[in-house]
Amino acid sequence: MNVLKFLDQKITAALVAAGAPEGSPAMMRPSARAQFGDYQSNGVMPVAKKLGMNPREMAQKVIDSLDLSEVADKVEIAGPGFINIFLKPEWLTQVLSGYVQDERAGVAKVEKPQTIVVDLSAPNVAKEMHVAHLRSTVIGDAVSQTLEFLGNKVVRANHIGDWGTQFGMLIAHLEELQKTNPEVMNSELGDLENFYRQSKKHYDENPEFAERARNYVVKLQGGDEWCREQWQKLVDVTMEQNLNTYKRLGVKITAENTMGESMYNDMLPGIVADMKEKGLAVEDDGAMVVYLNEFQNKDGDPMGVIVQKRDGGFLYTTTDIACAKYRYETLGADRVLYYIDKRQSDHLKQAWTIVRKAGYVPVNVSLEHHSFGMMLGKDNKPFKTRAGGVVKLATLLDEATARSEKLINEKGADMTAEQKAQVVNAVAMGSVKYSDLSKNRTSDYVFDWDNMLSFEGNTAPYMMYAYTRVQSIFRKAGVDAVSLSGEIKITEQPERELAMKLMQFSEAVDGVAREGMPHILCAYLFELAGAFMKFYEFCPVNKDDVAADVKNSRLQLCALTARILKLGLGCLTIETVEQM
Ligand code: ARG
Repeated sequence: MNVLKFLDQKITAALVAAGAPEGSPAMMRPSARAQFGDYQSNGVMPVAKKLGMNPREMAQKVIDSLDLSEVADKVEIAGPGFINIFLKPEWLTQVLSGYVQDERAGVAKVEKPQTIVVDLSAPNVAKEMHVAHLRSTVIGDAVSQTLEFLGNKVVRANHIGDWGTQFGMLIAHLEELQKTNPEVMNSELGDLENFYRQSKKHYDENPEFAERARNYVVKLQGGDEWCREQWQKLVDVTMEQNLNTYKRLGVKITAENTMGESMYNDMLPGIVADMKEKGLAVEDDGAMVVYLNEFQNKDGDPMGVIVQKRDGGFLYTTTDIACAKYRYETLGADRVLYYIDKRQSDHLKQAWTIVRKAGYVPVNVSLEHHSFGMMLGKDNKPFKTRAGGVVKLATLLDEATARSEKLINEKGADMTAEQKAQVVNAVAMGSVKYSDLSKNRTSDYVFDWDNMLSFEGNTAPYMMYAYTRVQSIFRKAGVDAVSLSGEIKITEQPERELAMKLMQFSEAVDGVAREGMPHILCAYLFELAGAFMKFYEFCPVNKDDVAADVKNSRLQLCALTARILKLGLGCLTIETVEQM
């Protein structure tokens, strides 16, 4: 259960009973220090101020109409009107006992499952995936996984860049290469970045080629079969590589999730016509434009967003308008989360303002830009190769694997070759993902091999290692965690701290679902692992002089810790191993 939410509801009701206006927030949070109890409500002061009441008197009224006798053994007023809640250890242990054998570790599924579309990854055809796509892929997939764990229906939508004028030059270039080498699709296109660069060069330098390329754009858009075939080849070869990368990364993005820009192409003429009819889009110098008062251009006038060019072509924005409409109408989205680089925030705001004005998506369906910052190198500059080029994702994952292998070799644990290969891969992919997930996504983040592959700090290796530590306790005890039952008893402070952390798993998971920020869960798991290490240091489990009931109780805390680490890392798409 989510204790924070439970107490929040209780205090919110008590606030109203004490005379506060309906909807006054309880401002509930975990207490920063043990002396302030386990949870604290800060909601009284602002309300009392508004009503011109003495806050401590108001707090007393709240407490008087609050019945927490079952869960708390002390509810006190502190300072100017904070309410501190001290949970009953017996209640805590009773609830936790029920979680030990619960495969969800006390995390309830949502009462009303939603259909949530997650726009993620979205690489471009005939280009290598680069680091921004890595961020979108990894963060988007972890949030998807968490939302699914809570019982929602998630549609991962991979909005690949598979449409646009660049396809003219790509088709023309492919045509030339195929003349000399009919097998080119199987060989040279391994290096997509180079293919793209060559066709661009050709286009810029050769007017005759450029003319042909422009012609192919028109033909492709007109549905010409040969052009369509060539286009499909380019999409297929790109996505084959990308799907391999997804598999390697261990994210759940498959061919079924590919819903690229081209998918909305047929909707675009109708949408522009509809917006024209609604008086939203107007003709301006041959183009169709939507003027938005909400945004200003550099002269301070309403911003004009072009939705159809003079030559009849549509734009990235037009596609995103159609795409939002589709996600609501056809996919039945209750909520749409877009994991896109923060530099595209204006683009999305404009597209969605138009979507709302056109009435394509009702306001109760939220369109949320879950933006993220740039990935930087150790020098704090955009992450590039030494030569200044883009870092290919495959190369990055190869390096992660090599470094992980070295790390695991140094550790020298006794493992079979097969076990070792599995651990190396789990640590490699886990580290790349976790280092991204553990930072607040809104800021830029520094990609640092040494940090991410360290056994110390908030890292994948540390978290994975903590899990194996708990497993080794069970091996040593010769006990199978699934057979554990009986009372959990809390006598020592480190036991209590660990118990509180174990209780808060739900809060962390709900936080990720609400904010789309996986670092909330990473921070929680890191604290949990810390609380466990401290507990293990002070509260022996396997020593001979530990009484049987104490041992049984402690083993249950261990079992629940392992379960939550595994479930939590699972939500983050990080694999756990039994030994490392
Ligand atoms: N392909 C785009 C890029 O590489 C990202 C697309 C994001 N999704 C969207 N619905 N616009 O920048």
